[in-house]
Amino acid sequence: MRHQWPVEELARDVRFHHVRIEETVFDPRNLNPAGQINTLAPTYGNATDNARRLMHGIFVGEIQALEGAGRTCWDFATGDGREQAPFALKLDMARQCWDEARHVEISCKLSDHMGSEIGEFGEQTMLYEAACNPDPVLRLTGVNRALEGLAIDVFTTMRDFGAALTDPVLAFAEDWMLADEVTHVKMGSDWLRRLTANDPQRRKDALDFQKAVDKLFSFGGFRGERQESPVHLARNFRRLAGFSDDEIVELVDVSAEAWSEAQAQQELARAQAAAG
Ligand SMILES: [Fe+2]
Ligand SMILES: [Fe+2]
Repeated sequence: MRHQWPVEELARDVRFHHVRIEETVFDPRNLNPAGQINTLAPTYGNATDNARRLMHGIFVGEIQALEGAGRTCWDFATGDGREQAPFALKLDMARQCWDEARHVEISCKLSDHMGSEIGEFGEQTMLYEAACNPDPVLRLTGVNRALEGLAIDVFTTMRDFGAALTDPVLAFAEDWMLADEVTHVKMGSDWLRRLTANDPQRRKDALDFQKAVDKLFSFGGFRGERQESPVHLARNFRRLAGFSDDEIVELVDVSAEAWSEAQAQQELARAQAAAG
């Protein structure tokens, strides 16, 4: 098997439809004339459809997390060099594959439980693309800290959504996966610190990559501190996963920054449309 597998060659059958990340984060169905609203609030008319869509997004994310962790075991020679991965890191990734394979099964069954089927919604492949980074530290920072950090926030939201709807199956399964994701994010935090202990530039590059990925997923107000944001930052779980309080504050700032930039873009688009 060759090293570094490009995103275009991922194995997917005809049920899967690729969409770009912008199409997901700027989906106009997330807005109403009054502006951004929490589209997962149980009082919102389309909340259950939106929850099914989010569940499908989790399902394809789990497949990509499995593919990414598997690639990290294979793509790098074992060792402590810059483009190598230590054996203990590969063991962590192997354990993660085991967890993600279980999450794929759980997500499939949960989607079925919620009335969806595979392929009903599109698949954006940002997670796997971040997992193609040629530096294992950047890979773990972009995937385990940024995207699986987002999974912590999303699973917490879905668990609470299940509890609010008195759906014990949804609430229990999300809580179960959440526990694994905290471990995966903690692996990312630990390996980032360990592998860059004597290389401040590499640490900076990794944190910049994480910030860029975090910002992408905060666009459109999907994750933020505002009441209207569907997904909020799960601060306590973030702390358990190795985020410092300063890093949590920075993440809040990144979300707010992404939200105002997205607002400005939408204003511009509206003004251009009005000018004809
Ligand atoms: Fe997972
Ligand atoms: Fe994970």
